[in-house]
Amino acid sequence: MDFKLTEEHIMIRDAARDFAKTELLPGVIERDEKQEFPTEQVKKMGELGFLGMMVSPEYGGGGMDTVSYVLAMEEISKIDASCSVIVSVNNSLVCWGLETYGNEAQKKKYLTKLATGESIGAFCLSEPEAGSDATSQRTTAIDKGDHYILNGTKNWITNGSSADYYLVIAQTDREKKHKGINAFIVEKGMEGFEVGPKEQKLGIRGSDTHTLNFNDVKVPKENRIGEDGFGFKFAMKTLSGGRIGIAAQALGIASGAYELARDYSKIRKAFGTEICNHQAIAFKLADMHTEITAARHLVMKAAWDKDQGNNYDMSGAMAKLFASKVAMDTAVEAVQVHGGNGYVKEYHVERLMRDAKITQIYEGTSEIQKIVISRGLLKD
Ligand code: CAA
Ligand code: FAD
Repeated sequence: MDFKLTEEHIMIRDAARDFAKTELLPGVIERDEKQEFPTEQVKKMGELGFLGMMVSPEYGGGGMDTVSYVLAMEEISKIDASCSVIVSVNNSLVCWGLETYGNEAQKKKYLTKLATGESIGAFCLSEPEAGSDATSQRTTAIDKGDHYILNGTKNWITNGSSADYYLVIAQTDREKKHKGINAFIVEKGMEGFEVGPKEQKLGIRGSDTHTLNFNDVKVPKENRIGEDGFGFKFAMKTLSGGRIGIAAQALGIASGAYELARDYSKIRKAFGTEICNHQAIAFKLADMHTEITAARHLVMKAAWDKDQGNNYDMSGAMAKLFASKVAMDTAVEAVQVHGGNGYVKEYHVERLMRDAKITQIYEGTSEIQKIVISRGLLKD
């Protein structure tokens, strides 16, 4: 067993850390306040290779492993979780899904642009009546020979208005239930495809979340990913890796909140001494650090499983379940350590607390992670 990062891992982590401090920190409060999409920052992340980290260099990606990816995700999330969800969706849902299951023509046409950040992707599974219950797809994709006709509504879509390409899950044959579901690449300009209003959110307010409407959208057959009926497995397999990315996001939010609380406790004085000298505060730091370390081990183990070719359905789900709870608990305690200052924007911890909550909801709620883990445990 070796807990040491390689020199390359350290280099990537430090590059992401520097980038987050110099490029994301300035303006992060304002973007959150205005619900402003980080257009310039996303462009820079593309130029630096953060949007296609694990994609093979053949398609314009960084060819890095999952451990590198989670290290970068943690650092970006410490500062700006709105940016890190864009990184996560583009890397582990859209690019990974296309590279793993797309055909050569689809990879040539779409993947290179997505991996370099020239284009942004979105992953569209959730619907008003199919969130956790993802097999209950209402969006239909009727086979018309050389094309499909898509009708329906997707909601909560990250990068909803900023994406160029959308991976859309839809039901082709209802009788076959989940075996009649397909995944398609939909382009923004396709006729009948409409982006609905932006959601007004509690956290990750810089990321744009939208409802999407499909009204008789004609999608060429060559835009179907995989064999007929592969769409639900495609979504599940892709989400297994996506959950590692969100676990790393949660870890980043937790470590960001912890570091702010630790530093603040060393300068804020009460009762004639720095507050870190009060055991109640020092013990909070001890608890935070212990839980974050445990979360990091789970996140790294899941990333390592993926890199080794091991099954990571359960380890990814455990990492997300645990790290998202640690993010929430740590951020709440970080606000407490800051006292009144924790409740105002300029100290950052209130934003981290608002951002933390989403990690227990998207890419499968905590309850859904427990379903995945318990089914995995009981399978054999
Ligand atoms: N890999 C491969 N196949 C899988 C799989 C996996 N990880 N998980 C399930 N499957 C297969 C099953 O084997 C089964 O196929 P067979 O019948 O051929 O065996 C099929 O999928 C259906 O599986 P279940 O019977 O287990 O289906 P279920 O209805 O009980 O639901 C579930 C399973 C795990 C709860 C699933 O519905 C789920 O993951 N729900 C959560 C949805 C979710 O995570 N949404 C996230 C949207 S994206 C997002 O949120 C992005 C973002 O915010 C940034
Ligand atoms: P519901 O499924 O209605 O769940 C409500 C509650 O019931 C939850 O607590 C849930 O855990 C619980 N519950 C449901 N079923 C069970 C059960 N069987 N056992 C125990 N408890 C259960 N989706 C996408 O496809 N793409 C995206 O890019 C995307 N981005 C998102 C961004 C944001 C900001 C948000 C808020 C959501 C996003 N989502 C996205 C959707 C997200 O994945 C769903 O919100 C999530 O899967 C939960 O679905 P739901 O909201 O319909 O909740």
